[in-house]
Amino acid sequence: MKNKYKVTFKPMNVSIHVPEGESLLRAAILANVHINASCGGNGTCGKCKVILESGKINNITVMNLSQEEIKDGYYLACKVIVKDDIIVNIPIESQLGDKKVLIKDSKGIHRQPTQILSPEIIEDICKPDPIGKKYFLELAEPTLEDNISDIQRIIRELKNRYDIQEKDILVNNKVLRQIPYVLREARFKITVTLLNYKDKVILSRIEPGDTTHMQYALCIDVGTTSVYALLIDVTNGKILTEASDYNAQLTCGEDVITRIVFAQRKDGLSKLQGLIGETISNLANVVVDKCGITLEDISYLVVAGNTTMIHLLLGIPPQYIRETPYVPVSNTFPPTMVEELGININSHAYIYIIPSVASYLGGDIISGLIACSFTTRKEVCLYIDIGTNGEMVLGCGDWMVACSCSAGPALEGGTIKFGIRATEGAIEEVRINPLTYEPMILTIGQKKPIGICGSGLIDTVAELFECGIIDQQGKFYTHLNTEYIRRGESGFEYVLAFAENTDIGKDIVLTETDIEDLIRAKSAAYAGIKILLQNVGLTFDDIKYIIISGNFGTYVDIQKSITIGLFPEVPKDKFVFIGNGSLLGTRVCAMSKDMMETAERIANSITNFELSENKDFMDEFIKGLFLPYTDANEFKGVMDRIAISQRFGR
Ligand code: FES
Repeated sequence: MKNKYKVTFKPMNVSIHVPEGESLLRAAILANVHINASCGGNGTCGKCKVILESGKINNITVMNLSQEEIKDGYYLACKVIVKDDIIVNIPIESQLGDKKVLIKDSKGIHRQPTQILSPEIIEDICKPDPIGKKYFLELAEPTLEDNISDIQRIIRELKNRYDIQEKDILVNNKVLRQIPYVLREARFKITVTLLNYKDKVILSRIEPGDTTHMQYALCIDVGTTSVYALLIDVTNGKILTEASDYNAQLTCGEDVITRIVFAQRKDGLSKLQGLIGETISNLANVVVDKCGITLEDISYLVVAGNTTMIHLLLGIPPQYIRETPYVPVSNTFPPTMVEELGININSHAYIYIIPSVASYLGGDIISGLIACSFTTRKEVCLYIDIGTNGEMVLGCGDWMVACSCSAGPALEGGTIKFGIRATEGAIEEVRINPLTYEPMILTIGQKKPIGICGSGLIDTVAELFECGIIDQQGKFYTHLNTEYIRRGESGFEYVLAFAENTDIGKDIVLTETDIEDLIRAKSAAYAGIKILLQNVGLTFDDIKYIIISGNFGTYVDIQKSITIGLFPEVPKDKFVFIGNGSLLGTRVCAMSKDMMETAERIANSITNFELSENKDFMDEFIKGLFLPYTDANEFKGVMDRIAISQRFGR
């Protein structure tokens, strides 16, 4: 656990505790203290100057400071690393405004993922009993009196020693061909790998000697954009390492619909299957290299993904997922040998797929529900995973209803003029000075900005609304006298960074059309939640926890999300973040055959509402096309705060 240090900003005398190693600029953002910052924390705009009054810091640059400023104790806040209790003074040129108004409501800031479970302790979720296990056998050598077949000899020992019954064991021809040689070369001391599937056991591998200390599983979350991998030690459930990469299918289309269209081309499906096989194979190589084992050591894979991604991985035609009435070929899939799918790991591992519910409610959601123990919860919870699609599940251990709505790609940066994925240089946090309208931006990796990602987009629109720069319909107040608001090629726009401070050689702006796209996306997600509640006769007050999964949810600011009407106005302590729930769930299933069966039970028991032609959904969607919502009573706190903030700021 990192030490926490107190950072005090003067002259406003606002303090915040941040973990050791945090940058001073991020501390200012967390404390809602405005410091001008135009290059995203890259150290090149020179605007975020502060004067150190006391305490020790790590300072990694003196760029953009004069000799005199250095002598006077000036630093760039974005390049100061906190390692002590410190007091800094923000000079007037870094504030550009009346200091009293630079502090805004700091309640509810939440960007750090908070686990509802400890990913390190698998026992918190389930009793470990992995899908696959190795068994060491010392067999009696055949004699004339005991000349049963080799496989019967193995099965007899499994039965005698481990109580595994013959009728349950399936052996494929490949293993049968190896058995006579391995048995005799190893003098009948062997290790077999058994993989469970329902009431059957697959004998997937035979090895000479005792290799039971080497048991590994690869857990994979196949996303439309990114693929994540965890290597786990099956003997204790521990995560050994992890890796991620973009889904190589991105070259064939950014979203599931374009991938489905691509799959319908000649050889399109096999190309897409090959590309995801390649991504998984590459990730497998990365994780085994990191751990000093070999691909041969992986016994099985557990994979979760949306329904389209799983169809493509398995080479199953996905086109009817896209056409009304939106039917997948299957929601459940038996284990398959990886080599049959073009995944170059080894010739014995099997791949297990977490089952889906419907075309737009995939195994990634089921996996996330497993990860947060949704099925054992007594209280009503809401599980949300927002990306291009917003998927949500409402319920508890006794019942679950779900829906999925197309939020569009805006929240992931798509369709936004300068929208990009959450990658280095993406503007992820934004604050706006309510007097001067100057932005304070922070980028991922503190690189010069190259665009804006989903969390930065939400921040910007919420700040524009709070500072009275846009109205409830997302339209700019055009009379405001500032260089940051101007008429662009396609209407009014807000300048987040001027060209000299960006890495793309042009101004990064947010247009009115971008704001419209975001409003449509947040409205679809909010409407989906309301439809679920209406269908079961509950209200937001009945929800104990709102569990947010996915990368988008990990870094989004809850208060800003409420301000724009993406999330309901409920107490902040109801929000729980689990990070990549889908990946966590694959690990739980890999370590528990019961949980793998539970996944199938959940997938079969969820009531899924199809929203694409639902009139109530459309009505709710239209009500949401305002900031934060048509009925201001539903966001009373936001409206009160904005009224105060706008009075204060002007
Ligand atoms: S120099 Fe610090 S934000 Fe630009």
